[in-house]
Amino acid sequence: MTAPPRSILVTGASRGLGAALAEGFAAPGVALRLVARGPEGLAATAARCAARGAEVETAAIDVRDGAAMAARLLAWDAARPFDCVVANAGISRGIAPDGTWEGLDGATLQVAVNLIGAMHTVEPLLPGLRARREGRIALVASLAAYRGLPDAPGYAASKAGLRAYGEGLRAALAPAGLRVTVVLPGFFDSAMGARWIGARPMAMDLDAAAARTRRAILRGARRASFPLPLALLLRVLDALPAGLSDRAVRRLRFRIAPEP
Ligand SMILES: NC(=O)c1ccc[n+]([C@@H]2O[C@H](COP(=O)([O-])OP(=O)(O)OC[C@H]3O[C@@H](n4cnc5c(N)ncnc54)[C@H](OP(=O)(O)O)[C@@H]3O)[C@@H](O)[C@H]2O)c1
Repeated sequence: MTAPPRSILVTGASRGLGAALAEGFAAPGVALRLVARGPEGLAATAARCAARGAEVETAAIDVRDGAAMAARLLAWDAARPFDCVVANAGISRGIAPDGTWEGLDGATLQVAVNLIGAMHTVEPLLPGLRARREGRIALVASLAAYRGLPDAPGYAASKAGLRAYGEGLRAALAPAGLRVTVVLPGFFDSAMGARWIGARPMAMDLDAAAARTRRAILRGARRASFPLPLALLLRVLDALPAGLSDRAVRRLRFRIAPEP
């Protein structure tokens, strides 16, 4: 697969990584379909993409709403079939700065948005992608997928689930001509990144994270984990005996401020 994608869906495109990815893909002849909850942010991203010559449509949908997602995505796909689907929308909760536990609501909300929301993004489009026997799917998980984090257990769970889902899809869909890229970024600067208080080792700027992600999608990489040293550290931590690994991971302390 060498031709760059021309009909691209990006969720979580109202700001942060999703907006930067959309802008990176924007070019004449490229159709961008952008989803998030916030219409203002979507409109701002759409205007920047249109200024680069892309043809852009947006939909203000919560990715937790499976019926609304399926209806909108299938209508877009019928009009101009997607050749690239980027499930990027995500949230983080975790232990608050005052020590408040994320709780059942926080933990399940992250799974609903980060994991099930990604399934709502990919699954309706899979029959068409499989029938056409070409296309790219990218799932934005996190390095937190490699090892449960003591200050963000629900977030790590949602991203570990997304990683496993993506790797399963990847193995299943390669014979059907589809490339699945599981993206596992470390810390980067964004509205979400700004709410992570404390250690953010090897944090990247947003443009660098977006460029890494976009390049990985374009070359059909199976997995993109970055920055490499942090990815290796978390994989080693996962391989250590559990007690040793737990003691080490407790040193990576941070808190996550509530969303404004
Ligand atoms: N920042 C980091 O350090 C970091 C590290 C590793 C992985 N990641 C992952 O990278 C992805 C992008 O994160 P980011 O840092 O760019 O975060 P961000 O700046 O907070 O942006 C998140 C995006 O997701 C959208 N979103 C959130 N909940 C949604 C919902 N229920 N339905 C539809 N859209 C929703 C937001 O739009 P609305 O609020 O308008 O809906 C926004 O466009 C996420 O999956 C995140 O978990 C981030």
